[in-house]
Amino acid sequence: MTGDVPAHYGGEPIREEVLGYGSQSIGDDEKQAVVEALEGDYITRGPTVEAFEERVAEIVGVDHAIATTSGTTALHLAGRAAGFGPGDEVITTPLTFVSTAHAATYCGATPVFADIDPHRRTLDPDAVREQITPATEGIVPMHYGGHPADIEGLLEVADEHDLTVIWDACHAFGGTWDGESIGAQRDMAVFSFHPVKNITTGEGGMVVTDDDELATRLRRLRSFEMDYDPDGHENEPWYQVSEGVGYNYNVTDLQAALGLAQLDRLDEFKTRRDEIIAQYDEAFNDMPGVRTPPEPTNADPMYHLYAVEISDEFGCDRREFVNAMHAENLGVQVHYVPLHYHPYFQEEFGYERGAFPETETVYEGLVSLPLHAEMENADVEDVVRAIHRLHQHHTE
Ligand SMILES: Cc1ncc(COP(=O)(O)O)c(C=O)c1O
Repeated sequence: MTGDVPAHYGGEPIREEVLGYGSQSIGDDEKQAVVEALEGDYITRGPTVEAFEERVAEIVGVDHAIATTSGTTALHLAGRAAGFGPGDEVITTPLTFVSTAHAATYCGATPVFADIDPHRRTLDPDAVREQITPATEGIVPMHYGGHPADIEGLLEVADEHDLTVIWDACHAFGGTWDGESIGAQRDMAVFSFHPVKNITTGEGGMVVTDDDELATRLRRLRSFEMDYDPDGHENEPWYQVSEGVGYNYNVTDLQAALGLAQLDRLDEFKTRRDEIIAQYDEAFNDMPGVRTPPEPTNADPMYHLYAVEISDEFGCDRREFVNAMHAENLGVQVHYVPLHYHPYFQEEFGYERGAFPETETVYEGLVSLPLHAEMENADVEDVVRAIHRLHQHHTE
């Protein structure tokens, strides 16, 4: 077809401006909310953070929500609150962002990878079972792209071995599973509010839990491990003492004001993401060499990613696909280079390529297409057209 040569092979790019795989959506209400917060008494952690935490707890359906500076620091706090430490092993997925494993490493514990269920692209409970040793203390599953991991199966393993579960739900805020929110399951779940995620506070994260003791520990750790009201010092309001090594992971009221205003748009964001996903599914479900994301059986996820898997039948490999999309000014991305390929995990823990075949096979094809609430139908059409013409170029 003349005039339909992919930009990678000399044609005109589909679009002039780059379309990223993810982006924030900030409206006038969010701007107004931040300005109002800026004019308030607190621009550090104050009443707006508390209101944001209460609202998230209510949405997720848990007793406690503890806001932190990022999903990464939320994972760190959760690992510390769980009591992970040197000598402990914590099982997690290799198909994730590096921060998931840092729930263990930041605490001096050892991250132990277990292979994924290639359908869901999340931790396989049977693979977890194979990695359990007397040193295993916890599991950190991740809800890839917002699609729930095998929650039931993983909780079963945790019960069998008395393990703490920290759900890395950084991709999954706003979704439901089996009639409850993803993130409401024991023992703790962690969200990220980075700009590409389902809602944003600029940077930001949250740990949610129903456990009162964990919540108290998380709050203390977030703020210097400080006891602000120690026994025996009732008439000494200045007497605040630290009881361990804590952090300053306090978020600001400015961020919380943005977060609260974003929560008002949660349904709008989910609806738009679902519409885009439906358009992608229709365009790609029957395209040879493109595996569209899995459908969950008893869940209504709020998807962070729309990750396809490209195989030989498409006509070119994943590397060429990604570079061809970039030539069209479509900012596709790959989530993720498996953690056991990273020099840190190889050098520190002895991991090697070949160790997790399911993860590696899935990784070979993965590409995340642009998905965010600000995308217009014309943007979706650009992606569809670019992929069609690349496929045609290779197969006709
Ligand atoms: C699965 C997963 N876990 C943790 C994080 C860390 O979140 P943050 O960027 O808020 O630190 C991310 C962020 O990209 C993520 O994708």
